Amino acid sequence: MKLTYYGHSCFGVEVAGMALLLDPFISPNPLAESIDVDAVPADFILLSHGHADHVADAVRIAQRTGGTVIANFEVANWIGAQGVTKIHPMNHGGSCGFDFGRVKYVKAVHSSSLPDGSYGGQPGGFVVAAKDGGSFYFAGDTALTLDMKLIAEEFDLRFAALPIGDNFTMGAADAAKAAGFLGCDEVVGMHYDTFPPICIDHDVARAAFQRAGRRLHLLEIGETRAF
Ligand code: NI
Ligand code: MN
Repeated sequence: MKLTYYGHSCFGVEVAGMALLLDPFISPNPLAESIDVDAVPADFILLSHGHADHVADAVRIAQRTGGTVIANFEVANWIGAQGVTKIHPMNHGGSCGFDFGRVKYVKAVHSSSLPDGSYGGQPGGFVVAAKDGGSFYFAGDTALTLDMKLIAEEFDLRFAALPIGDNFTMGAADAAKAAGFLGCDEVVGMHYDTFPPICIDHDVARAAFQRAGRRLHLLEIGETRAF
């Protein structure tokens, strides 16, 4: 699986030849200036929850690409109300098969409201099991939670994208514990450095993972890596 980092919590992942885009927040992010939001590929757009720093470019990209938006019930309906016709609502514990593989919507400990203040349902994360082999977990915004152990029971993760910025989500020390709960050695950091309250020391974050015997990947914005 090939992963491209677009800044904050936004990733593109190539799965079974299809382009998945997670939590698009590109045009409002000054750190992601080098990314052309109107050139980012997306056959499917997965939204973890309703906060603006996760959905900001979803409608714009869905309208250009014709990609299907996968999100919780409330977020999917909100996206649909803005004219996006291809939406797929899910909710916690549910999984569904798509052309690229299977998606399970899993619990996140956080909040979720939409940019206009309307109810954003319960926040979540996604486990994607690719049709051609390999699984990954995208945690969205979350605290450390024991529920992550359930993911390890069901999936053999190739990598996990975990928030490490602290303040609004877990920080690196808890994310390193999460990697243990998930049984996953390769962690891609997200949700850090975008805003002052989540600016972190990269060396301290890497050291927390080293102590836990796991690897933390901090990608440059625009960088692509294979897992
Ligand atoms: Ni959030
Ligand atoms: Mn967030």
